[in-house]
Amino acid sequence: MPRPIVVDGVELVAPERGHNLPPAAFTSPAVFELEQRAVFAKSWVHVADLVDLPQPGSFVAASIGRTPVVVVRDRHTGELRAFLNACRHRGAQLLEGKGTCDKQIKCPYHAWSYGTDGALLGVPYRDEFDCDASQMGLVPVRVGTIGPLVFACLDAAAPPLEAWVGELTAAIAHTTSWQLGFELEYELPANWKLFVENANDGYHIQFVHDVLTDLLAPDSGVTVLEPHGAYSWANVNPSYVPPDFGPPENAKIRFGCVFPNIIPVLSPSDLTYIRVDPVAHDRLKLFARSFDDGGALHLREFRKLAFQRTTDQDIAVVVRTQKGLHAHGLPAGVHASRLEERIGHFERMWADALGAEPAPKRHLAVAP
Ligand code: FES
Ligand SMILES: [Fe+2]
Repeated sequence: MPRPIVVDGVELVAPERGHNLPPAAFTSPAVFELEQRAVFAKSWVHVADLVDLPQPGSFVAASIGRTPVVVVRDRHTGELRAFLNACRHRGAQLLEGKGTCDKQIKCPYHAWSYGTDGALLGVPYRDEFDCDASQMGLVPVRVGTIGPLVFACLDAAAPPLEAWVGELTAAIAHTTSWQLGFELEYELPANWKLFVENANDGYHIQFVHDVLTDLLAPDSGVTVLEPHGAYSWANVNPSYVPPDFGPPENAKIRFGCVFPNIIPVLSPSDLTYIRVDPVAHDRLKLFARSFDDGGALHLREFRKLAFQRTTDQDIAVVVRTQKGLHAHGLPAGVHASRLEERIGHFERMWADALGAEPAPKRHLAVAP
């Protein structure tokens, strides 16, 4: 039975159609803490790409929300494995960054060592410990790949990765062999959900962006809502399609969002994603990568410049929104039924994850 969630004096309920979450959902440290358990610990989250894990022993230290995890390519089987990035002795983080680990993963604190399969192999002064070493391996985490992307999940009960990603799975899988074109990182003072919502916002484009605002053919957009994501696709404006491009149905761009925090954009020749990492209630990091089919390398630099320009423009409005949402007494906002439909879907997925009950009448109930 769903129950009201009261956090920081605000009763969070799933927003009614056309209405948004209350500002406190974006400004409250307590809501942010709740999200760690209810959203990030329950979802498949992008943690790395196959280019980071080319050979046996390759590893990437990553995080699911604020939970540190490490993805490792097993030295013996070549399989990808993921574990909590925390030593079973007293919890020290084992690996940082990315690279290739030694034959064993050795803890920097008291030198316990683990195999790349997670098994505990070495304990200095072993006879001082009253524990069964066979039960003290690294804590495993679910891991899976779609195309070049690697995801991990802390929840054994979450659906399989392909079901989570939904219809975008096949299109992303198609890009497995594409090359890394560019990568960029940003950090900004805003709640992670605001950036995800901006990426689901088809309303701001003509007012905020100046690069290729006519790239898409007007009125060709179609939106698909799925249990753990949503995407829109639209036709490329015919004036941008090269004459020898092939069937016009190939000239589509898909703008996706896989809950909770990855935003893939797919065109016929490139896949660019932004992952939005939550740092604090009012701070996020962006990690973006672009893969392309290598067929038009002269366009790679252009794509990077266009990406940087549009991302800078998005960051500016998202940071201003975070500032505005701190206004005491501001009621919850509203969203456009078609142009911001995916924002409403994202907020419903978020409210479902928290176990909030559906809105009884109006979108927001503020506790007295
Ligand atoms: S915390 Fe890792 S060996 Fe002590
Ligand atoms: Fe934008």
